[in-house]
Amino acid sequence: MNVLILGSGAREHALARACANSTHIGDLVVAPGNPGCAMIARTVPLDLENHEQISAFCRKEAIDLVIVGPEAPLVAGIVDFLAAIGVACFGPRRAAALLEGSKGFAKDFCREFRIPTAEYRRFGDRSEAKAYVRDRGAPIVVKADGLAAGKGVVVARSLDEAYAAIDMLSSANGDLVIEEVLEGEEVSFFALCDGVAAVPFSSARDHKRVGDGDVGPNTGGMGAYSPPSIITPQLTERVMREIVAPTVRGMAERGSPFRGILFAGLMIGKEGPKLIEYNVRFGDPEAEVILARLADDLLPLLEASAKGSLEGVAPIFRPDAALAIVMAARGYPGVVVRGTAIRGIDEAERVTGVSVFHAGTRSEGGEIVSDGGRVLTITALGRDLAEARARAYAAVDRIDWPGGFFRRDIASRDIAQEPGTER
Ligand code: AMP
Ligand code: GLY
Repeated sequence: MNVLILGSGAREHALARACANSTHIGDLVVAPGNPGCAMIARTVPLDLENHEQISAFCRKEAIDLVIVGPEAPLVAGIVDFLAAIGVACFGPRRAAALLEGSKGFAKDFCREFRIPTAEYRRFGDRSEAKAYVRDRGAPIVVKADGLAAGKGVVVARSLDEAYAAIDMLSSANGDLVIEEVLEGEEVSFFALCDGVAAVPFSSARDHKRVGDGDVGPNTGGMGAYSPPSIITPQLTERVMREIVAPTVRGMAERGSPFRGILFAGLMIGKEGPKLIEYNVRFGDPEAEVILARLADDLLPLLEASAKGSLEGVAPIFRPDAALAIVMAARGYPGVVVRGTAIRGIDEAERVTGVSVFHAGTRSEGGEIVSDGGRVLTITALGRDLAEARARAYAAVDRIDWPGGFFRRDIASRDIAQEPGTER
């Protein structure tokens, strides 16, 4: 199979690695990719917003399957565009990508199909939104309706904070969703879907705040691990029954079947799992840890999702733990300095069980330099989380990059509960 992966982050590098290892792979292209992808695949500077250019490339290169990494091209309808010329695509069509593309759509959908989620109301008018907030009191959650690259949600602790969030988010994105605060433990839950069938595809925990101990601003994710101890087989079964299955059934009933990877952001609280939000793509850095644990060949699974033949398929994950540490440029998630030299990536990859995935990097005069906010993801497998963590941090410590920083506490909370650990 000739495969084209769209995207340029560590998630796409991890997807490329899994595809490169497939026994079914023919040509492997990543667009636009990054220097890490370029070591295992051909990278081509396609513009992800230019669907004509991408489809012309697919025709010319006889691409059999396109794997879409990020949400923006999905929400913009890249899958519909490619389907029209007969190119199979892993990911939902535009109408199904609305689960991520519009929070209001997602919430109304949950209400119609009785999917457990936070109570909410939608607003087009900010003074009505403020009146509602005044009525409900703080804490309360304010969300912009559309895609906002992780900046569209404010969990407001006071009324003033909520009013400020309403002003900020409504000016940027139009409609708002205001909802109750959910309490519990957050988990990123994945299910592979083909429009009708859905199968669990493991789960992970992300670390969204920039600083150790979950302080500072939200980021795209500073680290992740899998499996999270809170996810038992019973809970997986319950999430599939109460959240994933009705989502897939509801979308099919509405005539917009969901194909691709459904990423349910969950809050596991006293009443059980509730949906915080849908994403319609792999998480980053969640993909790096989940794919590290996947024991099956990835490509046939993605192909089955794209072509509607997942029924009876059960992806297998190793019992081992995987842990990922994101190295980001100083200043992230604010303004960062680009172009600082990174050394020691090869030495880091020599640590047992470790893979280094590139995100915001570029090659310059034979060196790797930083070129974005999140720059590298260091991923390690181990028999348990403590071993995965020890390996991942040993690898990070071999990377010589004064321009970068990372969190020291990935998975600390879960490891403290792991049997037999002394840390
Ligand atoms: P994002 O991934 O940028 O949409 O950010 C959403 C984050 O905001 C989630 O990961 C949660 O940590 C938090 N969040 C969103 N909705 C709620 C809610 N109803 N209750 C508690 N936290 C929430
Ligand atoms: N790490 C969270 C996300 O990919 O949305």
